[in-house]
Amino acid sequence: RVLEQTASDTELGQFEHYMLKEIFEQPTSIENAFRGRLDDDEATARFGGLNLDPQELRRIDRIVLTACGTSWHAGLVGEYIIEEFARIPVEVEYASELRYRNPPMSERTMVFAITQSGETADTLAAMRECKRKGHPTLAICNVVGSSIAREADGGIYLHAGPEVGVASTKAFTSQVTVLTLLALFMGRIRHLSYPAGQRMIANLRKMPDKIRQTLECHNRVKEIARKYYTAENFLYLGRLHNFPVALEGALKLKEISYIHAEGYPAAEMKHGPIALVDEQTPSVFVVPRCQIYPKVISNMEEVRARRGPIIAIACEGDDKVAELADDVIYVPDVDEYLQPMVTSVPLQLLAYEIALLRGCNVDRPRNLAKSVTVE
Ligand code: G6P
Repeated sequence: RVLEQTASDTELGQFEHYMLKEIFEQPTSIENAFRGRLDDDEATARFGGLNLDPQELRRIDRIVLTACGTSWHAGLVGEYIIEEFARIPVEVEYASELRYRNPPMSERTMVFAITQSGETADTLAAMRECKRKGHPTLAICNVVGSSIAREADGGIYLHAGPEVGVASTKAFTSQVTVLTLLALFMGRIRHLSYPAGQRMIANLRKMPDKIRQTLECHNRVKEIARKYYTAENFLYLGRLHNFPVALEGALKLKEISYIHAEGYPAAEMKHGPIALVDEQTPSVFVVPRCQIYPKVISNMEEVRARRGPIIAIACEGDDKVAELADDVIYVPDVDEYLQPMVTSVPLQLLAYEIALLRGCNVDRPRNLAKSVTVE
């Protein structure tokens, strides 16, 4: 079902705030992002609106993803996934920078503007600049008929339904879903094997249930929020696919609770942020099982040695993390490239619960707008 904006979609129902409602909609919004786009026979993804034929798509040798804010973080996740499965070099550019830079881009470069609203002024300007230079320029967008959706050469809608809370939540996980589909599609017209494509499809189909399970952490997150909501600084640390999740977790906290938070790749900590670690500064480690899990554990040990409180997002049954962290939020174990969808959810909830405890207006935070249509 394609979600169009209806009265019921914009009603709060049982929820106190739009942000919480939208966090809890994610099992459905993720499903809507892949619905009708999984092709079992060909073990690939299908899009109606790319408007490029397979010959043109096979010639693409570079992808530029451009966006702002949370959408830019989704782009960073997309970079890891597309490079891994499609083996195409990807760059992720802040739209506000790209619009005034003039990076050399060959005619084989394809550009995607990622945007929830489709109205962000910088993203629109960056997209126009790329179009002017003749690149196929597509949109990954939520709002149907928005300026960016209309001006793009083609694109992929998120079908996430209206997002009302200023802090973006469900649009992020839908963007990551669509970028995963794109990686599958671009991979399958290149090197990705039939069984590998089938595995991705099977895994994607499981995601709505995995997100449902993840949401069961809500009560645990409330307890943790009560423990830490008076802190004035937070660090968010993660590696590989979970590095953009750390950035996004920190952004959520800043946006709605006005607490200073920094996201970092965990190993970069030793080049500066570790100087901030003290007993009053919690570090949120996004540490599900991954190729370099032991390395992240040793980063955690460094923080612990400096008596910094640790909140960890870890896979169910991970006792090692439980020994090192003060508090653990468990998420289901999924393949690495799918982890951002599950690990971002507890961080959305943590920001929400902390903001509530601090008496902040979670849906309409100060100084921020849902879509920034001015430069
Ligand atoms: C604003 C919103 C953010 C959003 C960003 C990009 O800053 O407050 O939540 O991520 O714009 O918006 P877009 O609609 O282009 O994704």
